[in-house]
Amino acid sequence: MFDQYNRNINYLRISVTDRCNLRCRYCMPEEGVCMLKHEEIMTYEEIRDVVSVAVPLGVNKIRLTGGEPLVRKDIVELVSMIASVPGVKDIAMTTNGILLERFAAPLAKAGLHRVNVSLDTVDATKFHEVTRGGDIKQVFRGIEAAREAGLSPIKVNCVVKEDANRSDAAEVDLYCRENGLEGRFIPEMDLKTGHFGIVQGGSGGDCTHCNRLRLTSNGKMKPCLFSDLEFDIRELGIKKAMEMALLVKPEKGTVNLSNCFHNIGG
Ligand code: 5AD
Ligand code: SF4
Repeated sequence: MFDQYNRNINYLRISVTDRCNLRCRYCMPEEGVCMLKHEEIMTYEEIRDVVSVAVPLGVNKIRLTGGEPLVRKDIVELVSMIASVPGVKDIAMTTNGILLERFAAPLAKAGLHRVNVSLDTVDATKFHEVTRGGDIKQVFRGIEAAREAGLSPIKVNCVVKEDANRSDAAEVDLYCRENGLEGRFIPEMDLKTGHFGIVQGGSGGDCTHCNRLRLTSNGKMKPCLFSDLEFDIRELGIKKAMEMALLVKPEKGTVNLSNCFHNIGG
């Protein structure tokens, strides 16, 4: 499906939860403020129905995001439900990797093709600091499990601050090269001020080539990360919500005052 700027929209990012088992400083407030109510979160049947409606409209790539998708109960089941929708060509997941060691093999078996693992530094102490308590060894083990499970390619998402952690990014880059991983370097963004930039090694942040729509974990279809526009699939119906999001997808992102990264999935 084409939007009014002739961009081919074939990619849907679905946030399956706004919860996370880490508290990265640039993403999550220390206390879980602005958390959604459990009753509002989409059921797996609703998510599967969204995918079934999106595919005939032209979507063939699905990414599951969070929060942290692996903290949602029975996530493997959701992957198989999505994989069984005919026409889905690519199913990816963005994860912090903490629980990946346990889940990589069952996810691959259920039909997940690939993962992006968030890793801003390869230094255990700094990792513990940015994530407010994360254990980097679990992430390294998660990445190895993903490799053994045949998830491919494995990409590493590294958020780069203006200048503070350039050396961290260089070390992450080296780690990726040595381990056959694809590094993606993401300038730290700010939804409230509209500060964003092009992702190095990836496709995010480049409005002229944007091919995505997003779905929040409480069922709002969003045409753009940097916009307050959203269309409720429950109020409007899935098809109508998608068509409206497509119709008003902005040429360029501005600001998003209504979401936080942990409920829209980065
Ligand atoms: N700036 C850039 N990326 C962010 N993410 C979360 N918060 C931010 C931010 N402020 C992204 C990270 C992470 C994904 C889950 O969300 O890339 O990998
Ligand atoms: Fe969790 Fe990812 Fe946000 Fe970190 S960036 S707090 S891992 S959702």
